[in-house]
Amino acid sequence: MKIRVINGPNLNMLGIREPDIYGRQTYSDLADMIKEHADKIGTDVEVLQSNHEGDLVDMIQECYGKIDGIVINPGAYTHTSVAIYDAAKAVSIPMIEVHISDVDKREAFRQTSYIRAACIKTITGHGFNGYIEAIDFLKKYIEENG
Ligand code: DQA
Repeated sequence: MKIRVINGPNLNMLGIREPDIYGRQTYSDLADMIKEHADKIGTDVEVLQSNHEGDLVDMIQECYGKIDGIVINPGAYTHTSVAIYDAAKAVSIPMIEVHISDVDKREAFRQTSYIRAACIKTITGHGFNGYIEAIDFLKKYIEENG
């Protein structure tokens, strides 16, 4: 089973950006934590990040025929990008939306998510652990649904 974790803009700034919201751990801490968990559960998980909308579309399209499940935190593009939503619908691979912060309790503009309608589940406000929960959920979902 292959899972791809895709992170959007400014997530490479974790540890520096707004630590009161996103914490003090860095992006590389996040990637290490995910890879360690992947090893523990014996699943092939790759972790990618881009600040560019088109790159995120490419990262989703590349999954077609190769990847069984996607965990995505599109960052600010969550709230604006029809292109990322369209890419998710195009490949039709089980996808989970993750946000480190509780977007639904923040500014009004964060309460719109285009990607949500293409996802089997959304996890918000669980910090880095949200990614681990998403991987575990996705693994079980893929095992049960093929
Ligand atoms: C975020 C929430 C978004 O609103 C924001 O633009 C981000 C990070 C989160 O993980 O909490 O960049 O996706």
